[in-house]
Amino acid sequence: MERSFRDKLSGAVNALTFGDVILLPGWVEVEPKDVDVRAKVTRGCEMSVPFISSPMDTVTGNELAVAMARQGGLGILHRNCTIEEQVEMAKKVKKAESLVIRDVITVNPDQTIKEAIDLMKKHGISGLPVVIDDRIMGIVTNRDVRFAQPNLKVEDVMTKELVTAREGITIEEAEEILHKNKIEKLPIVDDAGELRGLITFKDIVLRGQFPNALRDEEGRLLCGAAISPFDLARAKELDRYVDVLVIDVAHFHNRNVFEATKTALKEVSAEVVAGNIGTYEAAEDAITKLKEVAGFRVGVGSGSICVTTQLTKAGSPTLYAVAQVADAVAKYGGDIPVIADGGIRTPGDIALALAAGASAVMMGNIFARSKEAPGELIAIGEKYYKQYRGMASPSAMAKRHSADRYAIDAKGIAEGVEGYVPFKGDLATIVQELTAGLKVAMGYAGAKNISELQKKARFAALTAAGIREAGPHDVVMPSES
Ligand code: XMP
Repeated sequence: MERSFRDKLSGAVNALTFGDVILLPGWVEVEPKDVDVRAKVTRGCEMSVPFISSPMDTVTGNELAVAMARQGGLGILHRNCTIEEQVEMAKKVKKAESLVIRDVITVNPDQTIKEAIDLMKKHGISGLPVVIDDRIMGIVTNRDVRFAQPNLKVEDVMTKELVTAREGITIEEAEEILHKNKIEKLPIVDDAGELRGLITFKDIVLRGQFPNALRDEEGRLLCGAAISPFDLARAKELDRYVDVLVIDVAHFHNRNVFEATKTALKEVSAEVVAGNIGTYEAAEDAITKLKEVAGFRVGVGSGSICVTTQLTKAGSPTLYAVAQVADAVAKYGGDIPVIADGGIRTPGDIALALAAGASAVMMGNIFARSKEAPGELIAIGEKYYKQYRGMASPSAMAKRHSADRYAIDAKGIAEGVEGYVPFKGDLATIVQELTAGLKVAMGYAGAKNISELQKKARFAALTAAGIREAGPHDVVMPSES
């Protein structure tokens, strides 16, 4: 029999979220510094820290994606731009580092110094191998051209006695050769003397500088990109460059979206994260109907710039949504990572999300505060702020490219706001602070890694008095008065 309206209303579930609960302290055998926070973002992609930056146009451009991957997290490039612009961002991330550069920028010996300088400037590089039909003839660097007449030929200034190496050289061997010969670039050549790649000192230094970085087998930084299931051209194009594709739809549990995703999944080779979803049933449907899905983006309406729930009274607060989806994943075999998305403000919120079954968290607000985020930096009074806007805010939607995330044509309403967040400086510092806080939180909960946190964590719901007690109270803080 149908449930009565009275039963439905009185049986409303408690959709608990971050401000409502805490983790109870547990027996612990490790110190916070030894807590392992490695996490999965998709079935096949492991991160050194469980942080992902939101695909929003004031959060993840190529600069932030590079910084995220270097810190061991993952950036998801936004799609509020043309396909070409998004591909260009992906290429920049992939070019930021590599073991062996394959698409080497070269010059011919009879090109002018001016042309060589222009090429170096355009690509932000400090030297160029000199080739004739792929055969390496020399190398020309910044130092060679700096004081040379611009109309001289490259062959007049290039270094001709080359130190080269063969395919298969290890990074340690390459580093030794570079040191011994006091050079910065090592061309890789084949038996015929043709250029096959380039190893640079800069890339070797970067490997040492960022030991937690996420890199693919060619030493390039990992990167994700947002796509729409209705834009196959974008999905296929981005698939050529990025490691993870994220279906970027506000309400994924929708027949048209499922159908379109089914088609998209067949057309791409990267792992695909689907979302956003917020219920057990949505996860169950996605697991059973879309078998190739490799991750879930979870939470509806909790983003700090989001007015969806306020406007529509529909939504699924992130912590509640995570527990729902994680249970469905566990029931069906359990290796699809759950990404908690929206409303995360503190390391404690991250710990709660992981304890409720998430493998990683996605954040917009926190990362929009970084120097590397593309939002504008402004000064208000004596403080600095960065622009941060929802992807369904009027100004973001004026660009149209990602308006389909919110079916704006159907609804004609803005589901996001725009504003400013305090400027926090380098992303590296933000990630280090989040990581340190998360490790302490996991230590309190008695967990030495994320899977132990999920097994051992015990939640307690806060009362109004508990919420008051949880913050500073009964003291005067002159800096805030
Ligand atoms: P935080 O809390 O980190 O949340 O700012 C970021 C997440 O919010 C979602 N998002 C939106 N949700 N209207 C919405 O309803 C919007 O305009 C909007 N823009 C972003 C998205 O899931 C993001 O990761």
